[in-house]
Amino acid sequence: MYTLFVTVRTPHREAGELLRREGSPDRARFPVLATAYPRIASFRTARGVASYLDALGWPLPADDEILRAEGSPLAQPLEIDLGGSGRRLGNRFAAQPMEGWDGESDGRPSELTRRRWLRMATSGAKLLWGCEAIAVLSEGRANPNQLLVNESTAADLAALRLEMIEAHRQRFGTADDLAIGLQLTHSGRFCHPHDKARLEPRIVYHHPILDARCPPAVELEPVSDCDIGAIVQAFASAARLTARMGFDFVDLKHCHGYLAHEFLSAHQRPGPYGGSFENRTRFLRELISAVRVSAPAISIGVRLSVYDSVPFARDPATGRGVPVDMSGPYHWGFGVDPARPTEPDLSEAKRLLTLLRGLGVRLVNVTAGSPYYSAHLQRPALFPPCDSYLPPEDPLVGVARLQVAARELKRAAPDMTIVSSGWSYFQDYLPHFAQTMVRSGWADGTGLGRVMLSYPELPADVLEHGRLDRKRLCRTFSDCTNGPRNGLVSGCYPLDPFYRERPEAARLAALKLDWSKR
Ligand SMILES: Cc1cc2nc3c(=O)[nH]c(=O)nc-3n(C[C@H](O)[C@H](O)[C@H](O)COP(=O)(O)O)c2cc1C
Ligand code: SF4
Repeated sequence: MYTLFVTVRTPHREAGELLRREGSPDRARFPVLATAYPRIASFRTARGVASYLDALGWPLPADDEILRAEGSPLAQPLEIDLGGSGRRLGNRFAAQPMEGWDGESDGRPSELTRRRWLRMATSGAKLLWGCEAIAVLSEGRANPNQLLVNESTAADLAALRLEMIEAHRQRFGTADDLAIGLQLTHSGRFCHPHDKARLEPRIVYHHPILDARCPPAVELEPVSDCDIGAIVQAFASAARLTARMGFDFVDLKHCHGYLAHEFLSAHQRPGPYGGSFENRTRFLRELISAVRVSAPAISIGVRLSVYDSVPFARDPATGRGVPVDMSGPYHWGFGVDPARPTEPDLSEAKRLLTLLRGLGVRLVNVTAGSPYYSAHLQRPALFPPCDSYLPPEDPLVGVARLQVAARELKRAAPDMTIVSSGWSYFQDYLPHFAQTMVRSGWADGTGLGRVMLSYPELPADVLEHGRLDRKRLCRTFSDCTNGPRNGLVSGCYPLDPFYRERPEAARLAALKLDWSKR
């Protein structure tokens, strides 16, 4: 029934040929059709997906039917620790942080930010983890339109929070069971603070592969031990403002290759922030203690890339992602087996959870890899972004790997609240897997990313009606990534009519036509 692989040339040329042959009216919409993994919509049942996964060696449990709130584990309340006081959240759905590249240039939320955050607030999810990465320093912005936390943005962010709470209350009757955090970040190696096309990296150490991908890094001195103190203080001030604005928690983002995550893999950095586990986690420990001093009442969460891999690159012959060939062990990863650098090793992530527990942090969001060099680990997709590679594995394997990691960490730290990621690719069967995995204690919360852009009301539809609007399910076309990678705002261009009608949609379509000819 399934073909596991076809040989392809370059993804975009192959896509172009397929489109020409099939005469698709959508030729501009799909940059990559060259893949032979079964589409989720081709499975008739959740059990079919589960059997397929089983055959691939990734057994995951799934319910046969979507359950409405009355019988659903997803409707069970979730007790979380917010700064010493407990909070009972109304259900198990979480909205993951989703950056839009669309804030005002001074870091305040724009109308597009507002629309996205309000859609998350009325999605039905009771834990809003983010709602997107917000820079603590201007120089640490991932793009010139990334939101910033500072004295001049605080009033707008606080007003938006109130609007979200009110919108949630109007839609669901109460907001007492809702928690909203802010995700604080410094983009480190991937900073573009002034120009979307100009990298201005701040690196923790020289990386043998990633430096070459962001050329200024080769010449740069890694961030000095003295500079680190200023960055820690910037996180602490941002946390103080976040508390003043009334948000429930801050996420000290440690994932996806950004600055804080890079500290965790600084095996080769000399001095107090590199080498041993203790040194590589020093930045995190300093952040937590600085936040405790400046904002004692705010709760802390950590979004963590719990495993990683040696960077992947596109094989020019096939278009598929392949791990970059390193001679010798790989000593630049966190959560990677150095001898087999595409294999996750969760031992350090478990150790980190023990450390966090000891520091009073109970809220952890499990993610993996980086969108820049191991996208298939982080956001499994059938149609990868324009500058990425064809999936090196069935995207379902990427999803399963994330869920298994969440289960392992939950087992290792049962008293911590674990939110799992990578759910959008389950598509039609997302609730079937989420129900059973929450019921079986694989994770406490089901964190939704891309589908929050295409179909934010999914949690409410599941719990209130026991059904999905299949036409709105994210099919992992990656346009929400293609947009920003080409200087445009992020949004679900294929499925959200609001973005389909924006001028950026035409620009993106033209770009994709261009890629398909390459
Ligand atoms: C357009 C886009 C923006 C994202 N922005 C963020 C972000 O700001 N912070 C973050 O931690 N993750 C971010 N992510 C990752 C998502 O939160 C999520 O982990 C990922 O998309 C996998 O989940 P999904 O399969 O439900 O999409 C982003 C992903 C996409 C596609
Ligand atoms: S949210 Fe929309 S644009 Fe993003 S991957 Fe899904 S379908 Fe594509």
